[in-house]
Amino acid sequence: MNLSVNLNKISLLRESRGGALPSFYDFAKLALDQNIVGITLHPRPDQRHIIEEDIKTAFELIKQYKKELNIEGNPLENAINNYKGYLTLIKQYKPHQATLVPDSSSQLTSDHGWDISQSKQLIDFATEIRESSNICSIFIDTDITEKELELILNTNINAIELYTGPYAEACLSESKSEIANEISKIRILAESAKEKGLKINAGHDLNTKNLPALRKLDLIDEVSIGHAIICESLSKGFEKTVNEYIDICNG
Ligand code: PXP
Repeated sequence: MNLSVNLNKISLLRESRGGALPSFYDFAKLALDQNIVGITLHPRPDQRHIIEEDIKTAFELIKQYKKELNIEGNPLENAINNYKGYLTLIKQYKPHQATLVPDSSSQLTSDHGWDISQSKQLIDFATEIRESSNICSIFIDTDITEKELELILNTNINAIELYTGPYAEACLSESKSEIANEISKIRILAESAKEKGLKINAGHDLNTKNLPALRKLDLIDEVSIGHAIICESLSKGFEKTVNEYIDICNG
């Protein structure tokens, strides 16, 4: 299971004060110095964390390190103020992976996946995106039906990211039955999607406590983790924390 480190929170801290600290360049480099697959950025129209300068920095570093850039965002978000629009950014920076999320612009963080049956437009976006990116992933809830999953087969969507928020919440509740239920949904969907040739990503609210059970499933290709890594870094340091996550991912 590969780890992509989400660096939104580094930029969030910088933007909260203005100026240049913490340095996005330094933390992106430190992350890429570790044995991770790459980094994830989620530029938002309000520019509250990742700004285009960060994408440029990440783009240059990714080339040097020969690792992977994953850019998340809503393809329906067009240019506004200094934000160029998601599709424009993808065409310009050609990340290895583009992850489509259905967030509204004012959302604090992603909290649900696409309603695939209502989102035929997704397939057109994926076709456009695959001209620039090897992988077009869509963020989905773990309770989608087999029929819904089939709607994306034979399209340019070649990966899914499982929204793990409900699983993380079940872990916090410490209810064995809720945890087993969420893990079972993840396993069934991941098995089916893998069989159909899709890459399986997972993310949201993952941490050192809930990650080992996901690793054990041996079905997930990549996790993208931000918030918990940055929180734990405050006491343990960034490099040490990233390496703890890498160790869990390696099983
Ligand atoms: N995946 C998606 C689609 C996200 O929007 C985010 C948050 O930016 C993450 C994963 C990472 O979540 P967390 O910050 O909780 O690790």
